[in-house]
Amino acid sequence: MYRTHTCGELRSEHRGSRVTLAGWVQRSRDLGGMTFVDLRDRYGITQLVFNMDINRELCQHARKLSREFVIQVSGKVAERSNKNPKIPTGDIEILIEELNILNPAVIPPFTIEDETDGGDDLRMKYRYLDLRRPIMKKNIMLRHRMAQEVRKYMDSQGFIEVETPVLIKTTPEGARDFVVPSRMNRGQFYALPQSPQTFKQLLMVAGYDRYFQIVKCFRDEDLRADRQPEFTQIDCEMAFVERDDLLDAFEGLAKHLFKTILGVEVNYSFPKLPYDEAMENYGTDKPDLRFDMLIHDLTTLAKGKGFGIFDEAEYIGAICAVGCSEYSRKEVDAITAFVMRPQIGGKGLISVRINSDGTIKSSVDKYYQQEDLQSWVDMAGARPGDLLLLMAGNRHATLKALGELRLEMGNRLELRPDDLYKPLWVVDFPLLEWDEGTGRYYAMHHPFTSPKLDDMDKFATDPGKVKANAYDLVINGVEIGGGSVRIHDENLQKLMFKNLGLSEREAKEKFGFLMNAFRYGAPPHGGIAFGFDRWVALFAGLDSIRDVIAFPKNNAGRDVMIDTPSAISEEQFDELGIRLTD
Ligand code: AMO
Repeated sequence: MYRTHTCGELRSEHRGSRVTLAGWVQRSRDLGGMTFVDLRDRYGITQLVFNMDINRELCQHARKLSREFVIQVSGKVAERSNKNPKIPTGDIEILIEELNILNPAVIPPFTIEDETDGGDDLRMKYRYLDLRRPIMKKNIMLRHRMAQEVRKYMDSQGFIEVETPVLIKTTPEGARDFVVPSRMNRGQFYALPQSPQTFKQLLMVAGYDRYFQIVKCFRDEDLRADRQPEFTQIDCEMAFVERDDLLDAFEGLAKHLFKTILGVEVNYSFPKLPYDEAMENYGTDKPDLRFDMLIHDLTTLAKGKGFGIFDEAEYIGAICAVGCSEYSRKEVDAITAFVMRPQIGGKGLISVRINSDGTIKSSVDKYYQQEDLQSWVDMAGARPGDLLLLMAGNRHATLKALGELRLEMGNRLELRPDDLYKPLWVVDFPLLEWDEGTGRYYAMHHPFTSPKLDDMDKFATDPGKVKANAYDLVINGVEIGGGSVRIHDENLQKLMFKNLGLSEREAKEKFGFLMNAFRYGAPPHGGIAFGFDRWVALFAGLDSIRDVIAFPKNNAGRDVMIDTPSAISEEQFDELGIRLTD
C-alpha cells in the first residue's frame, strides 16, 4: 500500500497514529537541526518534519528533496506547536521515520502555487503542472461535481443519457465545420458535430422522449474568452411538450445546480424577457440583471433642436449613472474613450450632470434649454447627484454600444458582485436574421426552430418580423444556454428552408435524413443545450472558460502542450488521396 491517508486528511484526533503518505514536495525548508517539507496531493498539504537529533541520516537524505519530487513517507502524527489555521491539516505534522524517493523531478518552469510566476503560454505548455495548482484543482473538481449533479438531476426526472456519433455530416448551428477525411471513402469527408442537434431530434422520432447528454461539440470559429473550438454542452431534448413545459423542466435543472453547488435557493420563477425588450432596455440579448440602469429612448425629445449629431441620428438613448454627477472631466473622458473603442463602436458621448441643487449642466448646453434637458432627466428618472450619458446613431449599433457602456458603468460602480446570481429567460427571438453581405436571411438559432405560429402570415409579407419559439438562459450577462420548440412538420420545415435560400436539392442533401424521418411520425418536441464550460466558469467566478477545461486550446486554436494541429506524413496524404496546395 502506497499510503494509509491522503495529504488532506489528518487532524488532531489522529495524534499518535503511524501513517504513510505519498505525494509531491511543495516546498522544503532546512532549519539546520530540522527540515520541514510540505507534501502535496490532490486532497491537500501536510507538513512533514525530519529531525537531526532523532535520525541524522534520514534528515540528510531529506535535505536532497527538491520541489516536485514524488516521495513516500512514514511516521507518527504529532500536534504542531506552531499551528497553521489557513489549511485543514494545520494542527498537525508528521514526525518522519522513513523516506522513500519514488521519483525525482527536474525544476518546474514556474512555481506551482495559486499565485504563480508562470505566464499563460508557459502554463499551457506544461498544463499537467498547472493542473497541480490548488486553484486549478478547485475548478476541475467543481466541474466534476456539476457534471455529477446534472446526471443525478436529469436521471431523477426520467431523462436518459444517449451517446451520439462524432463522425457525422454538417450540422445546422451556423459556424464552420471541422472536417475529417475518410480513407475508406476517398474524396469524402465527415464533419465533427457543432452540436448533436439532428440526432437528438431523431431520438425524439425514435420515441426516447426525454434525452440528455454531456457532450463535446466542435466549431471552427473565432475564439474568445468564452469560446473554445471544442467545448462541452449539456444537451437536452423532450417530446410532447410546449415551450413552458420545456422552460419549467430546465429551470428545475438550473435551480438544482444553484442549490447543490452554490447553496443558493432560487425560490422564484425565472423572469421571461422578450428579445425586443431586452434589446431596448439593456442593449443586448443577454442582459445582466444584477443592476438596473436601463437604457432610455430620448430620440423624440432630443431631435430637432439644431444639434446636428442628434438631428441626423436614427436613435438617441441614455443611461443614468446614479450618484456620478461629480465625475471629474478626466473620468468622463475615460468613459468617452471606452465607448469609442473600435469593438464598442460609439462615435462620442454626451454627458448631462444633475447637480445636487437640481441644476442641470450638459456638454450640449448651447443647443438645449434647461427645460429640454429637464425632459431628458425626467424621462430617464434621474435625480440630483446623477449623471446622464447619451449616445446617438444607428438604432441597433447605438443600443449595443449603450449596453456595453451600461456594463462598464456597472463595473465602475461595483454593481456586479460575483456572489449574486440573476437568471432569466430571454424569449421570442426573431426567427431570421438578414445578412447584408450575402443578401439573404439566416436562421438566428438554427433552421429546425419553430416560428411562433401566430406569426405565420408574416412569412409572406415581412419574414424578418417572424418571431421564433426560441429561448436562451442568461445568468449575470452570460448566455448559458439556448434552445427552441422544433418544427416537426415536413411542410413547415420545407418553408423554412425556402426562406433560408436553400434549394430543395440542397435541403435534401444536407438534411434529407431528418425530413424523411419526420414523415414516419415525429412527435411535437423541443429542447435546449447549455454551455457546460460557461456554466462552470460562471459558478467559479471566472471570465475565461479555459480555466475550467483540463486541456484547452489557445486563442489560435492550438494545443501548445501536445503541439497540435501539426503536419501529417506523405503516406497519410496518399492514403487519403489528398494533396495540399500552396
Ligand atoms: P447554441 O449554438 O446556442 O445551441 O449553443 C448552446 C450553448 O453552447 C455554448 N456555446 C459555446 N461554449 C463554448 N465555446 C463555444 N464555441 C460555444 N458555442 C456555443 C453557449 C450556448 O448557449 N443545438 C442548439 C441547442 C438547441 O437548440 O437545443 C445549440 O447548439 O453557452
